[in-house]
Amino acid sequence: MAGFQVAIDGPAGSGKSTISKLIADRLKMTHIDTGAMYRAVTLIAIERQIDLNDESQYLFLESIRISYHDDHIYVDNRNVEEEIRTKEVTKNVSLVSSFPYVRRKMVELQKMAAEAGDVVMDGRDIGTVVMPNAQVKVFLTAKVEERAKRRHREKLEKGHDVNLEKIVEELVTRDIKDSTRKESPLKKADDAIEIDTTHLTIDQTVEKIIGLIRSAKGEL
Ligand code: DC
Repeated sequence: MAGFQVAIDGPAGSGKSTISKLIADRLKMTHIDTGAMYRAVTLIAIERQIDLNDESQYLFLESIRISYHDDHIYVDNRNVEEEIRTKEVTKNVSLVSSFPYVRRKMVELQKMAAEAGDVVMDGRDIGTVVMPNAQVKVFLTAKVEERAKRRHREKLEKGHDVNLEKIVEELVTRDIKDSTRKESPLKKADDAIEIDTTHLTIDQTVEKIIGLIRSAKGEL
């Protein structure tokens, strides 16, 4: 039987992964970053030099194993956590994740992971498709300028030289692609609670969601 499920969806740069990880650590739940899975597919597709526009070329997914554990993403036994964050992967991931075949394969893995215990899963279609019965569903948003500033800060801290305007552009393009694709687009589930984090700190957002979880568990 499934354990306690928390679904966190939202646009690029809304802080989903950081916040989901903190909540999972605090509540001793398992965190699964589904964006990392689509990024891993994109990385392998680029490495194999397939035609990224041709859905039939993604059949390599039948022979590799993508898994997410302890906050790292693996392809077979290779940890690709660093490689999946490159510009090239980011630029192509919306295209790759728009293919029904790719989504079917990833959703299958995610549904299995969702059954394995208490989970906090973050992505775009978690509350709508992957865990429609999650006890807590959150839709995180923030103004695009604020999301871009956060990304920018993160990149600078890692020593990358990046331009803020470019990040805004990249986020806007990705948001449009992710929310207008045919197959399970980024969309707030009807029963999800929307939290606008534009003026909230990470800690404040974490506290809010932990409050929702406690109340759903009948602890408040
Ligand atoms: O959360 P992220 O930025 O790492 O996600 C990368 C991309 O993966 C995002 O632009 C769209 C796709 N994605 C998706 O289609 N469905 C999910 N559940 C998670 C991510």
